[in-house]
Amino acid sequence: MSKVKTKFACQDCGYESPKWMGKCPGCNNWNTMVEEISFKQTSGRERGMPVKQTAQPITEVVSDEEPRLNTTMAELNRVLGGGLVLGSLVLVGGDPGIGKSTLLLQTSFALAHQKNKVLYISGEESVKQIKMRADRLGAQTPELLVVTETDLLQIEEQIDFVTPEVVIIDSIQTIFHPDVTSAAGSVAQVRECTGHLMRLAKTKGIAIFIVGHVTKEGAIAGPRMLEHMVDAVLYFEGDRHNTFRILRAVKNRFGSTNEIGIFEMKEKGLEEVSNPSELFLAERPMGVAGSTVVASMEGTRPVLVELQALVSPTSFVTPRRMATGVDHQRVAMIMAVLEKRIGLMLQNQDAYVNVAGGVRLDEPAVDLAIAISIASSFRDQATNPYDVVIGEIGLTGEVRGVSRMEQRIKEAEKLGFKRLIVPERSLRGLELPTTIKVIGVNNVEEALHEALRG
Ligand code: TYD
Ligand code: MG
Repeated sequence: MSKVKTKFACQDCGYESPKWMGKCPGCNNWNTMVEEISFKQTSGRERGMPVKQTAQPITEVVSDEEPRLNTTMAELNRVLGGGLVLGSLVLVGGDPGIGKSTLLLQTSFALAHQKNKVLYISGEESVKQIKMRADRLGAQTPELLVVTETDLLQIEEQIDFVTPEVVIIDSIQTIFHPDVTSAAGSVAQVRECTGHLMRLAKTKGIAIFIVGHVTKEGAIAGPRMLEHMVDAVLYFEGDRHNTFRILRAVKNRFGSTNEIGIFEMKEKGLEEVSNPSELFLAERPMGVAGSTVVASMEGTRPVLVELQALVSPTSFVTPRRMATGVDHQRVAMIMAVLEKRIGLMLQNQDAYVNVAGGVRLDEPAVDLAIAISIASSFRDQATNPYDVVIGEIGLTGEVRGVSRMEQRIKEAEKLGFKRLIVPERSLRGLELPTTIKVIGVNNVEEALHEALRG
């Protein structure tokens, strides 16, 4: 085989050079030159080939559902958009030790168990180590083939030989293309290997999972470009001190990106959590100041989560404002509304807002719960532990309507809550349940009056 030619290209401006340079002559940036394989793109016409495809009206394009494999793990299926699409390349990113290998080995087993041929390629662990893990997970089936390999061309041969439906590459940072001279894990290698795997997935119609480690800054090691190349990017997150793990889609060409899957790391591997609300509320203190339960939508599913706030006099010149799990700008806005519209003197108070269980809540429907937690902590007045609070807050202190009220109410009802404090306008045309009291409010003042009555 002839040696592949490589070139160095600036990742900022695209300047190309046959040699590596510390400073790009094109844009004067340092350390932006990265080795890449140089392909000559020849058009079919130059090579004398007939026109292969003619453009056609969109109404005449035949669209069939892409074939999907059921992973039998409901949480994973949902995040993938309803199962694993054959011919897709899925990147699974996460911190080292979070459980990526465990998740994918379990997935491999689940797929292999349904008589799909699965090839698990590890560049990090020996076959014996994988076997030990598989024993622990109870993942034993002859349809699951394992191999330790880091050479991309050998991997391709393995795939040709085994003809699997699903391939796992653990991890992209350990494999290398022998024609690229830079070390495995470098930007050039990661990009080249991913591009190659993408072509394999598409031409052979196999689903490929690749594992990517996350760097300190939180990006998947290698260029951001990796995320653009693949069909789906799933992040596996969680607190190391906590057993919950959340699988989140940040990109998905075959489904929605606001779905999450929740797992719990147990002695025998990952277990799916089908009723996350119960889990998130398990350690909740009852009848204390600064704790409110909110029904937030995670994708298509309502989840009840506890929102905590601690407000205490500051000993700094500028008070501290910390928020974990919610947007801190949003918290600042809500505190300003509480000051201006309710008259709470918060400017000399430190405020900490935290979402219990390590979840992240992105939607504005959690505003009202933040406001009530802060006010409750500030006044040292306990909230009612059987209340669920939902609502977005506007700058004039009005409580705005939120979507999917019915589902949120159902979830609160299911978990035995007694009262709901929600935007009045979201209740229009809604059939109210009988087992739970629903209180509609129009502004923050009314909401505080209801929530902090005791
Ligand atoms: P691993 O899947 O190796 O992480 P990654 O591939 O993301 O680096 O998982 C590592 C952690 O998971 C390890 O600290 C041990 C824990 N673990 C369990 O708690 N239970 C299990 O059954 C398994 C296999 C791992
Ligand atoms: Mg691993």
